[in-house]
Amino acid sequence: MANWFRKNNRAEPAGTEDKIIPNELQAAMHVHNSPLLTVTGVHRSFQVGGERLEVLKGIEMELRPLQLVMLKGRSGSGKTTLLNLIGGLDQPNEGEIMFLNHAFHLGSDNERTLVRRKEIGFIFQSYALMPLLSAWENVELALRMAGVPRSEWKERVAYCLELVGLGKRMYHRPFELSGGEQQRVAIAKAIAHRPSLILADEPTAELDSQMGAQIMSVFRSMIATEQVTICMTTHDPTILEDADHVYEMVDGKFVS
Ligand SMILES: Nc1ncnc2c1ncn2[C@@H]1O[C@H](COP(=O)(O)OP(=O)(O)OP(=O)(O)O)[C@@H](O)[C@H]1O
Ligand SMILES: [Mg+2]
Repeated sequence: MANWFRKNNRAEPAGTEDKIIPNELQAAMHVHNSPLLTVTGVHRSFQVGGERLEVLKGIEMELRPLQLVMLKGRSGSGKTTLLNLIGGLDQPNEGEIMFLNHAFHLGSDNERTLVRRKEIGFIFQSYALMPLLSAWENVELALRMAGVPRSEWKERVAYCLELVGLGKRMYHRPFELSGGEQQRVAIAKAIAHRPSLILADEPTAELDSQMGAQIMSVFRSMIATEQVTICMTTHDPTILEDADHVYEMVDGKFVS
C-alpha cells in the first residue's frame, strides 16, 4: 500500500497528525498517477560581484510517483541549484514549483520547512551526519525532527539500518565507519520518516563501483517497499542506466 495511506493510518498523538495532504487527494494521486512534483518555467539567478549570473533558464520537469529520476550535466550546470529548489531549500526568481498541493515558489520558509520535514528526505554528498552521534542516534534524530511518535522509533531505526545493510554497525559513530557506510547511514536517515520524495545529490560519487551498485539496489528496493520517488544527480554512465528518466542540463535548460 502506498506510503501516504500507511502514513495516514499511523497512530500519532494529538497535534502531530499529518494535516498537510488530505486523504482524498492522496488517493486521487495514487489512482491517476499524477505528478508528485511539477516544475514550470523556473529561472534562478544569483547576484555575484555586481553581475547577474543566470544559472537556471526555464526549467520544465516533473516527478511521478515511484519514479527514479536522474539529473546529469557538467559541473556547474545547475543540478544542485535545482535540487535545492525542488526540496524547498531555496526559491526561484521566476516560475512555479508544485510539490503535492504545495506551491513552493510562493510559500514562506516556515511553510516549506514543515512540508520538507514530513515529506522530503535529503541525501547530501557530504553525508550531513552528526559526528558525535552513533548511526542509530543519527537515524533517530530524523524521526524526532519529523514528529514521529517515540514509540515507533526503535522498530523504524532498526528497519532502516538493516535495509541499507548496516545491521552490524548500528552503534558506530561516523568516524568509526567507512565512507560507503557513512553514505548508507545518510540514506537510512533520509528515508526514516517515510518521506514521499527523496532528493540525493551525487549519492554514489565517493563510492567504488560495487558500493555504488549496492546503493542503487537499496534505492530500487526502497521505491518498492517504501513507496518513495527518488530524484538524484549523477555523472556515472552505468548508474544512469538505472533511471526511469534522465534529464540532461545544458546551459541552464534541459535538453532531454
Ligand atoms: N548561492 C550562490 N551564489 C552565487 N552563485 C551560485 C550560488 N549557488 C550556485 N551558484 C553558481 O551556479 C552554478 C551552478 O552551481 P551548482 O552547484 O548548481 O552546479 P552543479 O551542476 O551542481 O555542479 P557540480 O556537478 O559541480 O556539483 C555555479 O556556477 C555556481 O557557482
Ligand atoms: Mg552539485
